[in-house]
Amino acid sequence: MQPIVILRNLGKSFAGVRALDRAQFDLLPGEVHALMGENGAGKSTLMKVLAGVYRKDSGEIEFDGRPVDIESPRAAQALGIGIIHQELNLMNHLSAAQNIFIGREPRGALGLFVDEEAMRREAQRIFERMNLRLDPRTPVGELTVAKQQMVEIAKALSFDSRVLIMDEPTAALNNEEVADLFRIIGQLKSQGVAIVYISHKMDELQRIADRVTVMRDGQYIATVPMATTPMDTLIAMMVGRQLAEVENDFPDTSGHEIVLEARGITRGAMVRDASFVLRKGEILGFAGLMGAGRTELARAVFGADALDAGEVFVNGRKVSIRSPEDAVSHGIGYLSEDRKHFGLATGMDVETNIALASMKRFLSLGFFVDQAAIEAEGRRYVKQLAIKTPSGRQQVRLLSGGNQQKIVIAKWLLRDCSVLFFDEPTRGIDVGAKAEIYKLLHTLAAEGKAIAIISSELPEILRMSHRVLVMCEGRITGELAGREATQEKIMQLATRRQATADAAMPS
Ligand SMILES: Nc1ncnc2c1ncn2[C@@H]1O[C@H](COP(=O)(O)OP(=O)(O)OP(=O)(O)O)[C@@H](O)[C@H]1O
Ligand SMILES: [Mg+2]
Repeated sequence: MQPIVILRNLGKSFAGVRALDRAQFDLLPGEVHALMGENGAGKSTLMKVLAGVYRKDSGEIEFDGRPVDIESPRAAQALGIGIIHQELNLMNHLSAAQNIFIGREPRGALGLFVDEEAMRREAQRIFERMNLRLDPRTPVGELTVAKQQMVEIAKALSFDSRVLIMDEPTAALNNEEVADLFRIIGQLKSQGVAIVYISHKMDELQRIADRVTVMRDGQYIATVPMATTPMDTLIAMMVGRQLAEVENDFPDTSGHEIVLEARGITRGAMVRDASFVLRKGEILGFAGLMGAGRTELARAVFGADALDAGEVFVNGRKVSIRSPEDAVSHGIGYLSEDRKHFGLATGMDVETNIALASMKRFLSLGFFVDQAAIEAEGRRYVKQLAIKTPSGRQQVRLLSGGNQQKIVIAKWLLRDCSVLFFDEPTRGIDVGAKAEIYKLLHTLAAEGKAIAIISSELPEILRMSHRVLVMCEGRITGELAGREATQEKIMQLATRRQATADAAMPS
């Protein structure tokens, strides 16, 4: 079969960074072709060149047997190349439908006015195909990250693409939503659409990919069939070294002193009467399905959202937390799952972002910013977390997705909180860096920090947690010792509805 896309010897440099170095890739109609590689390997860059977002410095692009020059996203669309970007690219104040049809809105009879009704209908049709229940008129800013991601996908589907690039499309999706997406991918495949699929989730790749191309440091490593290539082989190709496995030794922390206690936390319909304690030196895992209220609980404790009811105690003393600043002043940190909106100032540089939550420490005489100290700390964390950046002065928005996530982590590590909530800490992070982060969290706990992690990946919860709390529909439905926890036990608790209690709640 003739490939629909062939990329040969592509080169692309950004000031100081060689993102692509003789990269290669070919894509067949009707295949799902996975692109794998560590954070910063060049996956997104390669696909942005194909989608006309970046101009290549060198190399050739062949589309449908002809050499082409793709000089803009519009040119890519005209060829039938669609892309779902890794970082959401939506306008928060516009509705879902408006976002999908931005720049090509259907017009009324005279072509003067945007036909809102036609746009809504068309969006609705795509949502139905995706099995997505969502009012197309909802402003995107009011949607959860998962729903925003679904809108991005709907947007890509609204073009009748022959090539569809998905850059970590499932990062924020729950299992059902992933299943819906895979069903749509199956349909597209059978229509001959060629799909590029970028993900760090190995299980997904195994389920969906026909072939895999591995990249490392902007270079092409190999293209192999998915079904017959062992995962270990792929990982070795990706990282070029052996990975250190972290063991969870399940220390018994039940006797440790309680650092944080939350009692009866209630916030809207998402968090209902949740109580828990967090002890010094322990890693407490919060498990549950997406939408179970874990993020909302953490945000309420952290003061990011107001409480309807409930009390928080730090080291046995009742505290009043009305804002994230209050929380931080009591030694509580929260790494948001949504780095773009809450975690990072993406227009500022790496060092500044790392120092941002700890600025006080870098003021001398309460006035002068100690730039040298900021630089030194920046350098320390860039090294410790292996953040791939040309320098501490690089703007964060120019880093790869996974490296941005590492900066959020560095920022809170530096803040030196005694309690740290990590919300989906390894989302979008490659296997090698994941292992590093697991090791780091275990070290932090061993040093006496109290750590809570929220993760939708059960293997991660099981590998990390000394103790597991499970939530369902805003309530804590069970607790398991880390040693006893299994996927089955967690899933049981995660789907246990509290019918009687619900019936008593006014709605
Ligand atoms: N606009 C830009 N300006 C400067 N450097 C950039 C820019 N875009 C990407 N880079 C750099 O190019 C390299 C490749 O980045 P890319 O985003 O392609 O990685 P990736 O493989 O998609 O990683 P991830 O898995 O973290 O998303 C990285 O070192 C990144 O910092
Ligand atoms: Mg990327």
